[in-house]
Amino acid sequence: MAGTYEIRRFRAAGKDDAAYSGCAAWVRAVGAGFHDTRRSDEFVDKVLANWRADDGELTGVYQTGDVAAHSLAADVPVATFATLRKDLNIGYGRQLRAHLVTAVTVRGTHRRRGLLRTMMTEDLAASKAEGLAVAALTASEASIYGRFGFGVATFERSVKVDAGPRFRLRHAAAGTVEMADRKVLLELAPQVFERVHRAMPGSIVRQEAYRQRSSGSFGRDGGEDEAIRCALHYDAAGTVDGYVAYKFAGWNTKPFTVDVVDLVAATDDAYLELWQFLGSIDLVERISRQEAPVDDPLAWALDDPRCIESSDHRDMLWLRILDTGKALGARRYPVDGSLVLAVADGLGFAAGTFRLEVADGEAAVSAAPPGTVPELTLDVACLGSIYLGAVCPVTLTAAGKITEHAPGAALKARLMFAVERAPHCLTHF
Ligand SMILES: CC(C)(COP(=O)(O)OP(=O)(O)OC[C@H]1O[C@@H](n2cnc3c(N)ncnc32)[C@H](O)[C@@H]1OP(=O)(O)O)[C@@H](O)C(=O)NCCC(=O)NCCS
Repeated sequence: MAGTYEIRRFRAAGKDDAAYSGCAAWVRAVGAGFHDTRRSDEFVDKVLANWRADDGELTGVYQTGDVAAHSLAADVPVATFATLRKDLNIGYGRQLRAHLVTAVTVRGTHRRRGLLRTMMTEDLAASKAEGLAVAALTASEASIYGRFGFGVATFERSVKVDAGPRFRLRHAAAGTVEMADRKVLLELAPQVFERVHRAMPGSIVRQEAYRQRSSGSFGRDGGEDEAIRCALHYDAAGTVDGYVAYKFAGWNTKPFTVDVVDLVAATDDAYLELWQFLGSIDLVERISRQEAPVDDPLAWALDDPRCIESSDHRDMLWLRILDTGKALGARRYPVDGSLVLAVADGLGFAAGTFRLEVADGEAAVSAAPPGTVPELTLDVACLGSIYLGAVCPVTLTAAGKITEHAPGAALKARLMFAVERAPHCLTHF
């Protein structure tokens, strides 16, 4: 790309800043990359305010020299990329700072010239140099990011739940549910989410936009979303420990449906009782939720688990281990033992042969002496996949992705990398 393009990295500017119009062009370029309609000024303003709140870094690639007559101006980026840093729950409440990659687009007329590769490899190298142990993203297509060392680490699915007479959830309520003004979520949503995050492997701390969206303060056009309703769950002591934000899909949608916008529950009781509430809303025949866990207590709590129609089981979080020693050393392990892993990495960041020794759940990681025969050989993308316990090393071995040199080593890895409950990431970015 030398000579033709220039990469610029910057922070989101405020409205009075000279750099604001360039930042607004960047936001609109991201929208164009995902086939959005052109966004209102109000929408762009809020997006930039959120980027400032999250202290994200924006990257744009710009044409140098003259652009073609009548084409988009030179200050409109031909490619975009952005990053932010948030904590990732890596099991047993442990937190690891993660480098999150998002807003990746390349204009159709400039694609397949290596712009993504340049932005990604430069960015990962800089993060590694800064000492970050993992990077993460969510992917529009599953074929893009494996080449950069990212592996699928959590999953999600969409569910439609029959809220008719079949919906019987046997659970003795421990708390209560009440309706609230949607705006209370501006304050409550981050508090409840914080508790969920601490308890949920695979969880990532949410960006500012979440409380805005869940509370209806940041609708599709940037304005208020008056359709959002909110219910809160209170524990026996009266503390809010869960909420659901939802919308009625309208009388023209049959069966009559409620769409869950955000459902966050810090306790098992809160989760089941919010579902009991959703299943009891009068005139509603179906509850639809897009970001449901694949391993869902709801299915086991319902008398008739076939009330749940599940679709689009899909990859969610992709992890890229940047520093194998740091990442392995940061985890807590449920099983003591030792494991020698040979990690291959096309970009070189995480490669090597590592001995993981676990005693009382705590890890000691060292470089294996030259000549050591590993028990498992795997690509860094597979290490990212098994790291949060959601992908089974035995399955990856069966798929030919992991090579087992010592019989039983993949099962040992499965047991060692297990976490305390099914990982689920409620944070899209
Ligand atoms: C995906 C996208 C960013 C790729 O950008 P790009 O600049 O064309 O990618 P590059 O030219 O740097 O390609 C890098 C490598 O990825 C491959 N690649 C790029 N996009 C791919 C895709 N969609 N599927 C499969 N492979 C892809 C290229 O073939 C190339 O492979 P190689 O270097 O191993 O030979 C671009 O097509 C795009 O903007 N798509 C629409 C928005 C989107 O989906 N963004 C991703 C959001 S998660």
